[in-house]
Amino acid sequence: MAMIEAIRNRRAIRKYKSEQITDEELNLILEAGIYAPSAGGAQRAMIVAVQDRDLALKLGRINASVMKRPNVGHVSAEQPSIIDDPTIRSGFYDAPTVCVIFNKGTGQYSISDSFCSAENMILEAYDLGVASAIIGRAEMTFDNEFGRELMKEWEIPEDYTARAFVILGYIDGEYPPLKPRKENRIRIVR
Ligand SMILES: Cc1cc2nc3c(=O)[nH]c(=O)nc-3n(C[C@H](O)[C@H](O)[C@H](O)COP(=O)(O)O)c2cc1C
Repeated sequence: MAMIEAIRNRRAIRKYKSEQITDEELNLILEAGIYAPSAGGAQRAMIVAVQDRDLALKLGRINASVMKRPNVGHVSAEQPSIIDDPTIRSGFYDAPTVCVIFNKGTGQYSISDSFCSAENMILEAYDLGVASAIIGRAEMTFDNEFGRELMKEWEIPEDYTARAFVILGYIDGEYPPLKPRKENRIRIVR
């Protein structure tokens, strides 16, 4: 697949089958995450893939509960988000795999490096036919006793912070069409 085709066509998916992705798919997607560029080549991102459904649901409920209702109305008609449909119980939409991306400290690159990993992961997922979405509010989801205990259990260093989630699974239903881009957002200066 041409790279630009994946970039154009990939969509955030919020309706998942319960079937788990294969270990081969998971390993390639995690590898894409750790091959992301990082500031200074520091390679500080750590990624935990959660395939324990009860745990993913518990974290997903916390993730939904910490969301402040924004003033933006509509996110997606085909793939409604928790903003579009407040009855959705988990911020992870019951995706069978939930990856948590952690990064060191609070410096300016802690967040940017993490989202470089997230982007690599969703593009690799798309190439493999695995549906995905980046999910936010990772800091708030882990900023509690339960989150800190999980980090200990997963041997994530204490000076690390949860920065992003990437949810993965197989789409339930039709893949949504390419999303048109807003115009007038590019300049070429020669
Ligand atoms: C930094 C970031 C945070 C996001 N957080 C969420 C989220 O918490 N919940 C969600 O359903 N989608 C989330 N998304 C997915 C966006 O809603 C989605 O990418 C956007 O609506 C555009 O749709 P598309 O990815 O299908 O083009 C996030 C995306 C980014 C880049």
